[in-house]
Amino acid sequence: MDNKTTMTLAVFGLGHVGLPTALGFADLGWNVIGVESDKIKAESIANGYVPFNEDGVEFLLRTHLRSKKFSVITDTKVAVEQANILFMCVATPSDENGSANISQLENLAFQLRDSISSYKIIIQKSTAPVNTAEKIRNILLEANLKNEIQSNEKLVDVVVIPEFLREGKAVDDFFNPHRIVIGLDDMNLKETIVELYRPLLKKIKKDESSTLVFMDTRSAEISKHAANAFLATKLSFINMISDLCAKVGANVDSVSRAIGMDPRIGADFLQAGIGYGGECLPKDLSAFIESGKDNGINFSMLEEVKKVNEDRVNVFIAKVLNHLDNLQDKTLAVWGLSFKPFTDDLRNSQSIKILHNLVAQKIKLRVYDPYAMDATKKLFKISDSITFAESPMDAAQSSNAILILTEWPQFSEQDFAKVFSVMKTPLIFDGRNMLNFDVLIANGFKYYGMGIG
Ligand SMILES: NC(=O)c1ccc[n+]([C@@H]2O[C@H](COP(=O)([O-])OP(=O)(O)OC[C@H]3O[C@@H](n4cnc5c(N)ncnc54)[C@H](O)[C@@H]3O)[C@@H](O)[C@H]2O)c1
Repeated sequence: MDNKTTMTLAVFGLGHVGLPTALGFADLGWNVIGVESDKIKAESIANGYVPFNEDGVEFLLRTHLRSKKFSVITDTKVAVEQANILFMCVATPSDENGSANISQLENLAFQLRDSISSYKIIIQKSTAPVNTAEKIRNILLEANLKNEIQSNEKLVDVVVIPEFLREGKAVDDFFNPHRIVIGLDDMNLKETIVELYRPLLKKIKKDESSTLVFMDTRSAEISKHAANAFLATKLSFINMISDLCAKVGANVDSVSRAIGMDPRIGADFLQAGIGYGGECLPKDLSAFIESGKDNGINFSMLEEVKKVNEDRVNVFIAKVLNHLDNLQDKTLAVWGLSFKPFTDDLRNSQSIKILHNLVAQKIKLRVYDPYAMDATKKLFKISDSITFAESPMDAAQSSNAILILTEWPQFSEQDFAKVFSVMKTPLIFDGRNMLNFDVLIANGFKYYGMGIG
């Protein structure tokens, strides 16, 4: 593609990744067509409503529907005709054995193959195992071959630009990337991709070499899986240490601080708790393990990482059962349902796993989450053991213990003297080690964290 040609982008799949990506590029001045196959979702977005909770996205959406830099359609063919850079942002969920299901990517590739009649750059943004770009290329090549015979020109290139955004911080992460990994198998594409990111580099006042990391497509695919597997490993590592701390009466937060201050280790992702959840870490870790197996590599270390995380729910529930008799007569307040703060996403939420366990034991629960109440109501609509509270204080009302399962900042900002006064018995099980131990003890609480005492 001639770099001087105006680039129009099409983003396929307007979910947690596709919509912020599309709007981010629109905000940088590109013309962006969003393509969403779910008609209800597409209509909602076209009317300015974001079908999930993600700070800042609705503002960008309304701004760029108005500026006409962003439009939404459901017709792949029309988008392919108008755009020259096509982003694949569809889901890659887990198959039953944990491997990545890339059927949405393959289906999209077939749709694109049938619509392409002039040169396009296809960008695989979805997280997918090594060699997926090769499979996509092979599907697209059928069109390429058919048409190349007539035109003698290359019709497609596949580039891998994995997405590293954090849910709940998607807009922030789009505009402040730590790095942008770009997998190319033809270095002639480099200039076009730099051109695509030039407005962002200009905005964040960074140069190309400090932000854009070029490599081949396989290395880019592995980089994404390896990054998430490493983050999961750090979390499971500190959670394993927290079991030892709990056993011997040490404090895992002190250990975490001590080792995290070493720059070779780093403090991030070193907080002990009830473990990680969400759509990305568990799914990508499992997919990476399967990818290792597929290629005959021993990834058993990562299997242990997964197992430690799965055990967290049992460790936490055992702790609660240990300190409270006759749970069936008790009411527990649950603070936090989403898999992490600032999202209403319940996918693979450790909190929801704990809820299922407690509901099965017919324990009465008063639950609260700032964002995820509606989503939780849908999941537990027939349960009569759950009362949906209106605030953390309301959940704590007449309860025998508070279980903190998501680290929403507002939980640590509660008036704990008041919380004490509304509870039947002043127990707190802090699954995220987020509260100030001294404040709680001063207010008369019994406090149990993960790997603390
Ligand atoms: N969610 C995250 O925080 C995150 C972060 C980094 C990477 N990722 C990866 O990004 C990818 C997308 O994740 P997501 O969370 O945005 O998924 P999502 O389920 O929220 O969104 C995918 C969207 O694609 C649409 N779609 C499916 N097939 C389509 C087609 N042929 N044409 C147009 N639209 C189509 C779906 O209807 C859906 O709206 C996954 O591979 C995921 O692993 C996700």
